[in-house]
Amino acid sequence: MFYPEEIIEEIRQRNDIVDVISSYIKLKKTGSNYVGLCPFHNEKSPSFSVSPNRQMYHCFGCGVGGNVITFVMEYENFNFVEAVKYLADRCGMQLPETQVSEEVRRNANLKNRILEVNKEAAKYYVYQLRTPVGKQALEYLEGRELSKETITKFGLGYSNKYSDDLYQYMKSKGYEDSLLKETGLFSWDEKHGVYDKFWNRVMYPIMDINSKVIGFGGRVMGEGKPKYLNSPETKVFDKSRNLYGLNLARQSRSRTYILCEGYMDVISMHQAGFSNAVASLGTAFTGLQANLLKRYADEILLLYDSDGAGVKAALRAIPILKEAGLPARVVRLKPYKDPDEFIKALGHDEFQKRLDDAINSFYFEIEVLEQQFDLTDPEGKTKFYNAVAKKLLTFTEKIERTNYIEAIAEKYHIVKEDLEKLVNRYGAQMIANPERRSGNEQNREKMLRQKESSLKTSQKILITWLLDDVSLFHKIENILSPEDFREEPYKTVAELMFQQYKEAGELQPAKILNQFESKEEHNEVASMFSQNMNDELTLQEKERMLNETVCQIKKDSLDFRNRNATDIQELQQIVKEQAELQKLHISL
Ligand code: CTP
Ligand code: MN
Repeated sequence: MFYPEEIIEEIRQRNDIVDVISSYIKLKKTGSNYVGLCPFHNEKSPSFSVSPNRQMYHCFGCGVGGNVITFVMEYENFNFVEAVKYLADRCGMQLPETQVSEEVRRNANLKNRILEVNKEAAKYYVYQLRTPVGKQALEYLEGRELSKETITKFGLGYSNKYSDDLYQYMKSKGYEDSLLKETGLFSWDEKHGVYDKFWNRVMYPIMDINSKVIGFGGRVMGEGKPKYLNSPETKVFDKSRNLYGLNLARQSRSRTYILCEGYMDVISMHQAGFSNAVASLGTAFTGLQANLLKRYADEILLLYDSDGAGVKAALRAIPILKEAGLPARVVRLKPYKDPDEFIKALGHDEFQKRLDDAINSFYFEIEVLEQQFDLTDPEGKTKFYNAVAKKLLTFTEKIERTNYIEAIAEKYHIVKEDLEKLVNRYGAQMIANPERRSGNEQNREKMLRQKESSLKTSQKILITWLLDDVSLFHKIENILSPEDFREEPYKTVAELMFQQYKEAGELQPAKILNQFESKEEHNEVASMFSQNMNDELTLQEKERMLNETVCQIKKDSLDFRNRNATDIQELQQIVKEQAELQKLHISL
């Protein structure tokens, strides 16, 4: 950490969160909190809440949250140190000269400097495209029917034919090798020295949601391999966390997003007026990307290429989106391969029709399944029905399952009751025969994940409760200690809460956040502090939930210690605690 903790805490306390946020957005008082329109996603009715008591904010719409430092980080796109400096300035506080070495300071600043080099490179590529050497590249882009505005909007450029031109350019600007090495734009070779990674390619800058250039894709003009060359991952470029075009799509004010495969797809859709398109950049779509999308979208239209690889990619993306709580529909473009081709051939209106006709992702999964069986053969038909029945079991809500059973029965002319029986039979088999379930690798993984996430939820709930009602500490302190929380960030949060409780008998949630530096951690921790214990529960229900929650956390912690215990005494202690846990009863 750059500055001593006390200093950061003083800065936080001297900048009232309501004051600071009010200087950016309009807040209205309701009860003990303030609410307003969230500045981090598009919304029409306010779900952004600021608590003066807790000195924290949280958006129930997009899930961001934190203390006053987080807000400034998010809003101004500052890193932690920059935000602290800014707030110190705001309340007229003098920051001490930091005693850190030049080396450490440079490291903290490294990300910003990589971004700076990326921006310079992007500008240089754009410039090259407009000079005579870039003529062929410009012609290539125009040949693909991109307008001047589109080329400018996406910052497209050209890396020329000289093998170290960009490198020489950066050196002339005074950037040192140690920095340039971190950008992924150059290769160092013992024999031949330094050369540019991209040369003689059309360049597509990849930007994060704040339009900072984090990497590049470069395409050969015409045929040639590899078709695209992409920046390697760097300190600022994490492929699994970014989506191409999201910086522009988030301005579209649409809550339906189109998810496709490639640079050109995004660009031609935006050009045709579909400015809600983003791409997962050739890598497999990830849960992190789904969560990112969830901030801006309520529904996803999947628009992967219509070839086998595209279908596979769509099938993989569907459950990931489902898990993030994003319903998806699948758009079919046949006989065209991808959005770029389709729009060129048939234009805006026909494309819009295909979007409107997108099918529910479950029907899409069933359609793909259908192609694997020969439905003209009675045996094939039976196998298909069985496969469908199994798939229907993935709906855990009964109503939803029934609705789909009805719809599928009608579509495939199956007697509804028969299909229902089939589904129930599979369900019963699963329950009666758990090996069948665990024999299935995918299911086992899913169960493990569920267990993991329920454990996380327990830790989160307990932390929320402790914050809501400090007297609970007294009731659980003999049973649980911070070490029983095994997952980050819960572990750190628990440690700090127990410490605050011991020292002062009360909690300061906003102070706890000072321990975390990344926005992601702030959001995660703030969400723990912004949920209220469910007041609709009766006392008995609360008591039961509390006991279950404490038990689950403790049991997992004991299991873990048991697996790692090295001596007999320790094992005996664990067994003793396990026995005690059986008898546990906390009363409220
Ligand atoms: N891709 C890649 N490397 C390759 C091929 C593809 O990184 N050799 C990634 C790119 O992000 C690309 C996406 O996968 O945009 C989808 O591939 P493709 O459909 O081939 O690319 P398009 O964007 O459609 O490109 P084009 O129309 O120029 O062929
Ligand atoms: Mn393509």
